[in-house]
Amino acid sequence: MQAWRGAILWFDPHTDEPHVHFEPDSWLVTAADADGVQRVVAVGPADALRAAYPDAAVTDCRGCLIAPGFIDLHIHYPQTDVIGSPADGLLPWLERYTFPHEARFADADHAAEVARFFVDELLRHGVTTALAFATSHPVSVDALLIEAGARGLRCIAGKVLQDRHSPDGVRDETERSLADTEALIARWHGRGRLGYAITPRFAPSCSDAQMRGAGELAGRYPDVWVQSHVAENVDEVRWVRELYPHDRSYLAVYERFGLLRPRAVYAHGIYLDDADRALLAQTGAAIAVSPTSNLFLGSGFFDYAAARAGSVRHGLASDVGGGMSFNPFVTMRAAYTVSRATVRGDGQPKVGLSLSAVDLWWQHTAGAARALGLDGVIGSLAPGSEADFVVLDAQAIPLLARRTAQAASLAEWLFAWVMLADERVVRQVIVAGTPVQTHHFTDASGALHVGSVS
Ligand code: GUN
Ligand code: ZN
Repeated sequence: MQAWRGAILWFDPHTDEPHVHFEPDSWLVTAADADGVQRVVAVGPADALRAAYPDAAVTDCRGCLIAPGFIDLHIHYPQTDVIGSPADGLLPWLERYTFPHEARFADADHAAEVARFFVDELLRHGVTTALAFATSHPVSVDALLIEAGARGLRCIAGKVLQDRHSPDGVRDETERSLADTEALIARWHGRGRLGYAITPRFAPSCSDAQMRGAGELAGRYPDVWVQSHVAENVDEVRWVRELYPHDRSYLAVYERFGLLRPRAVYAHGIYLDDADRALLAQTGAAIAVSPTSNLFLGSGFFDYAAARAGSVRHGLASDVGGGMSFNPFVTMRAAYTVSRATVRGDGQPKVGLSLSAVDLWWQHTAGAARALGLDGVIGSLAPGSEADFVVLDAQAIPLLARRTAQAASLAEWLFAWVMLADERVVRQVIVAGTPVQTHHFTDASGALHVGSVS
């Protein structure tokens, strides 16, 4: 039995809005369950838990903030090296940068090298769960999930389905792509903390036969995830209207093929209407809000007010490499900026929301877990949760240390973290009860180490 002592922040796991818990001097007690999985046993005031668990080995993190590991609800590992490639919007960006990079993932060695860097990058930023796209090449899924499994990252990934409107090198073949998907489900889904996601890239890149096959698999394997993109960019939405003239909307295409259900996560969802939002709420499918990507590619602004009014499940995502940062704090800052925007995705005026830091943090932890159908498992430190958490040190950044010291309330204090923190604050990352080490890191003296385990 282990205990971690510090200020502790966590959220109730099963709610559709944030219910926050915070104790300035708290213990987090963890132990292995009957299956050997390290879980939270208790969380609460230090004095009370010291008496209740006198034999626990205590790690003293006083002065630091202990919080659930972050969950990245949508990210492309093969786009690690696409970050920062400017283009005139989504479709030219895919053609010019993304597809040529992804074509290289037919090579297992290349895929393994990128996977290693990618998993490092997530872990050193305090991200302990990711829902990730691989490429259309099955070996790219193997490379990522081998690396994630070895390092303790909880990772859900899928082979991309794209049998049309895609160049040589990434385009797959319908029957084979569906057989590969089913084989990958058998190989990876539920193996340790790994999972599989059926991954139609987006409606324009999949034939009717491929979409139908993906929907059949989604029906046959209800606890496997589904991930895709929807309503991200005006040119893309126009294209979908041309390709699918009989469907009411872009989202309705996925509905027709049986791809809206719990555990289905769609990135972006900027150009949705109220009927689409009702469909999401009814089916339990969720949106991965990807604000840095939407700003970088000029896609538009996620309409938080409408999503909330329509009871749409949503959480935060980096969408690297359309997104330009692995850093959850950067994503939360961008989400705040977007929530303040006074135009909707469709360009109409609106009143901006002011999302609180508690809300933003929840969207990247317990809210994202709920969108994945993993509430109670990850994203919270409620007893029973898997022991995935981060130890954050405000002293690592002088301005953050100074600003947090002046906060008059928990809300102000957390807001300073969201606005000012970066990966320098991540002192330790614990996955399944075990502190992780990364292959590249900055040590206490600020020296950069590349390629060696600390
Ligand atoms: N739509 C289809 N593929 C992609 C992708 O790789 N990134 C983004 N942002 N949108 C997409
Ligand atoms: Zn994406």
